[in-house]
Amino acid sequence: MSSRFGPGDVRFFDRIARFYDVAMPPARVDRLRDGLAFADRQIDRVLDVAGGTGRASRGLAREGIDPIVVDVSAGMLARARAAGHAAVRGDAGDLPIATDSVDAAVIVDALHHLPDPAAALEEAARVIRPGGVFVVQEFHPRGVRGRALVAAEAVVGFDSTFWTPEELCTTLSGAGFEARIVREGFGYVVVGRVPRRD
Ligand SMILES: C[S@@+](CC[C@H](N)C(=O)[O-])C[C@H]1O[C@@H](n2cnc3c(N)ncnc32)[C@H](O)[C@@H]1O
Repeated sequence: MSSRFGPGDVRFFDRIARFYDVAMPPARVDRLRDGLAFADRQIDRVLDVAGGTGRASRGLAREGIDPIVVDVSAGMLARARAAGHAAVRGDAGDLPIATDSVDAAVIVDALHHLPDPAAALEEAARVIRPGGVFVVQEFHPRGVRGRALVAAEAVVGFDSTFWTPEELCTTLSGAGFEARIVREGFGYVVVGRVPRRD
């Protein structure tokens, strides 16, 4: 099924970019930090995949990390740039980023929108250096809040695909990551570490 807003629901995000940061609560950077802690290398360069207006990047910048935002929505990226973040237009499934060039990547509240999440996981595994981590913050589709969110996104017309944390761990492992659940609950965090080659 395809979204009424096009692949990745991007037309929706282009339209609401001006209001996005007003409508959304700040990103939970404490949860991202818990995921980044599983890295087996120093974290300097971080990619904020499908990072939109840079909501997560803003929080990480306060911790001394200033990620590069990658997103396909020109409207969302314009907001990220206006807020002072480095931002590159690109598809999470075909990242315009060199192999082994970042220490970590994060994807916050966005994996479920991607038209080809498997490609995004493969691309993350390609660009993250050995020992680095991919931190995924997502929503659990089960439980009262999860079922309400799944229903609400369908009503809006999104083409969302949600995973349980266990399903996401299995998918990350299939993409070559060492995966584990960092935080359970409605807003869960799963981390995948790129194995060291030695
Ligand atoms: C709900 S927003 C989340 C933005 C940001 N991560 C945050 O937490 O505020 C989902 C984002 O996914 C982006 N997106 C959708 N499909 C994409 C794709 N194929 N590649 C990169 N970004 C994509 C949208 O443009 C949008 O900015």
